[in-house]
Amino acid sequence: MYSFDYYNPTHICFGEGKIAELDKLIPNEAKVLILFGGNSAKRTGTLDEVKAALGQRKVLEFGGVEANPTYETLMQAVALVKEEKIDFLLAVGGGSVIDGTKFIAAAVPFEGEPWEILLSWGAKVTQAMPFGTVLTLPATGSEMNSASVVTRKEFQSKLSFMSDHVFPRFSILDPTKTFTLPERQVANGVVDAFIHITEQYLTYPVNAPVQDRFAEGLLQTLIELGPLALSEPDNLDVRANLMWVATMALSGVIGKGIPHDWATHMIGHEITALYDIDHARTIAMVLPGMLDCRRDSKKEKLLQYGKRVWGITEGDTDEKIDSAIAKTREFFEAMGINTRLSDYNLDTSSIDNIIEQLERHGMTALGEKQDVDLAMSRKILERNL
Ligand code: NZQ
Ligand code: ZN
Repeated sequence: MYSFDYYNPTHICFGEGKIAELDKLIPNEAKVLILFGGNSAKRTGTLDEVKAALGQRKVLEFGGVEANPTYETLMQAVALVKEEKIDFLLAVGGGSVIDGTKFIAAAVPFEGEPWEILLSWGAKVTQAMPFGTVLTLPATGSEMNSASVVTRKEFQSKLSFMSDHVFPRFSILDPTKTFTLPERQVANGVVDAFIHITEQYLTYPVNAPVQDRFAEGLLQTLIELGPLALSEPDNLDVRANLMWVATMALSGVIGKGIPHDWATHMIGHEITALYDIDHARTIAMVLPGMLDCRRDSKKEKLLQYGKRVWGITEGDTDEKIDSAIAKTREFFEAMGINTRLSDYNLDTSSIDNIIEQLERHGMTALGEKQDVDLAMSRKILERNL
């Protein structure tokens, strides 16, 4: 029997108009720094709505957090927070702004070089500033988890950290804020959430039917809603449910007490660090080869996935697994996301570079059984060229 602790202190405010709740969620006397990305929060009016909700509080702004937030930019915000004696951070954006805010929250009180936070996978974090989020892009689940991914440009390193100190205090999820998303980001979000679920679900059976059924329900919901989000971009019910699926996919609830994989993500991060390709696209080009090459050790769950999620009952074991992988690939492609390295102009020399990066970052024993070594990573990428 498995055992686990489940700690998730993030308060969720879900629904249209919920940005107004900021007034109750942030202390009146707080000096707030609002963090946002390029220009979308300004252009769409979300930033103004946030500022109006903050009323008379002292508020400063820090824009320009990039997609795949960089250490270089975030350290500028760390300096500003210290200089201005900010005591509350508010992220307005997608996973990148939220992840960046988590890093800033941990880096401000950190003693020593904050890059150590990433090098220690968060183990060295002992405290963090309080922060909340206003989510504008359903995808990463960062709004309800304690993970963050930061890129250090000068090293071409994209590394993750986790710490209980960086759960958001609250997250506001107003699905109407997602209407302005370009199709590409909607598709990215669906595929990213999908793969967050497979990273936790497609391992080996441990008699955890609640986690399994919950994961299968979330996958089926994504399969149903993903294409609708593209064909009916004004449908609020679709947007709302999509937002909640993406949050649930990586809030911790489906992953408690069970083995996790995450090899696809670790390889994907190296591809983004090297070639600046959107996160969701990198993992979409890794996952099919990953499942194909590891079909033996994942056999039972792959068959369960095929049967329960895709209704595959015909054929022998290998044929069923082939169909499950093909269905997965078709789904990503139907969302407009290509699934082969060559679709992104990557070739065998790119694979050499990715393998070198994995080695440099110590990603040499990945997966739920730590059996994805560099040779296996190479095989996976070659399988999906
Ligand atoms: O920069 P702006 O102008 O704001 O535009 C953003 C950005 O260019 C735009 N956007 C966001 N909301 C919008 C909008 N445009 C119009 N209307 C809106 N409502 O979308 C672009 C992409 O935003 P980004 O935040 O980068 O996307 P996403 O949420 O997919 O986050 C990706 C980052 O999260 C990390 C990824 O590695 C990547 O760095 N991840 C974080 C995880 C976590 N913390 O648990 C897990 C994930 O696996 C992932 O690794
Ligand atoms: Zn992801």
